[in-house]
Amino acid sequence: MRGGAQSHLMRCADGHYYVVKFQNNPQHRRILVNELLGTRLAARLGLPTAPVAIIEVSEELIRLTPDLVMEHPRHRFPCHAGPQFGSRYPGDPRRLTLHDFLPDQQLLQVQNLHDFAGMLVFDKWTCNTNGRQTLFLADRSFTGEGAGDVTGGLTDSAGGASGVAGGAYRTLMIDQGFCFSAGDWKFPDAPLRGLYARNRVYEGITGMQSFGPWLERLENRITERVLDEASRDIPSEWYEDDYDSLLRLLEQIFRRRTRVPELLLEAKKSNRQPFPNWV
Ligand SMILES: Nc1ncnc2c1ncn2[C@@H]1O[C@H](COP(=O)(O)OP(=O)(O)OP(=O)(O)O)[C@@H](O)[C@H]1O
Ligand SMILES: [Mg+2]
Repeated sequence: MRGGAQSHLMRCADGHYYVVKFQNNPQHRRILVNELLGTRLAARLGLPTAPVAIIEVSEELIRLTPDLVMEHPRHRFPCHAGPQFGSRYPGDPRRLTLHDFLPDQQLLQVQNLHDFAGMLVFDKWTCNTNGRQTLFLADRSFTGEGAGDVTGGLTDSAGGASGVAGGAYRTLMIDQGFCFSAGDWKFPDAPLRGLYARNRVYEGITGMQSFGPWLERLENRITERVLDEASRDIPSEWYEDDYDSLLRLLEQIFRRRTRVPELLLEAKKSNRQPFPNWV
C-alpha cells in the first residue's frame, strides 16, 4: 500500500483482507500499539472505524513471498514474522471502490459527515500529530441495492464514485499510527493538530454542543477498566517489553479526557478558522 509505514494488503485466515503494518515498518514499532489501541478507543466513542486485528505472519510466508519486504533507500529488509497490526479492508479489494479523498462538492454527499466532529474530539484527545485520515466508500445501501452482501451494503467498482444514484458515501477512520505523537508517546498539543485537511467537513459545527455526544462518551465510556481491556492483549514486542511506558501512556490518556473542550476552543480561535458556522 502507499504510505510511510509500507503496509501490505494480505488475505487472512478468517477470509477477510487486511492492510497489515509490520513491526519493522520505517515509521516506528510503537505505531502498531497506537493503531490497535487508538482504533479500539475510537470505536468506543461510537466513531466509524475498520475492524482491527492482531495478524500472525509466519517466517515461512515471508521467506516464500519476495514482496514481503521493507524498502529503504539502499536496502530491502524482509518483514518481521510474528504478530502484526491489521486493519480490515471493508470488502473484496477486487470489487470495492475506495477513495482516500473526495472533492469538496462530493463531501456534502457523505452521509456521516457529522462524524468528523467526533473524530476531532478523538484526535485532540490522543494528540494525533498527523492530519485526520479517512476512507470514503460509495454506499449502495443508500439506493436500496446490495443489502446484506459481504461488504455490508457498500458498492463495488461498477457503482463507482459518480454512478451511484443519490451519490451517497460513508466515511471510515483509518490510520491512528500518529496518535500519541507516533513513537514519542507524548502530547505536543497545537491548535491545528488533528484537523482534517478540508474545512468543508466541519460546516455543520455550530458551537461546543456539536461535539457533545462524543465529549459525553469520552467522559462516561472511557474508564480505567476500558483502557486496561483495550490494551491487555497488545503484543509486548510492539512496545519492546517496556510495560512501564505503556502504563504511563494509559494514565496520560485517561487524564487528558477533560482537556478536550479547551483544545477544541484553541482550534476554533486559530487563523485557519476551521469552523465557519460556529456562532
Ligand atoms: N482498513 C483499510 N481498508 C482499506 N484500505 C486501507 C485500510 N487502511 C489503510 N488503507 C489504505 O492503505 C493506505 C495506507 O494506510 P495508512 O494511511 O494507515 O498507512 P501509512 O503508511 O501510515 O500512510 P501515511 O504515512 O502516508 O499516512 C491508505 O492510504 C489507504 O488507502
Ligand atoms: Mg496514512
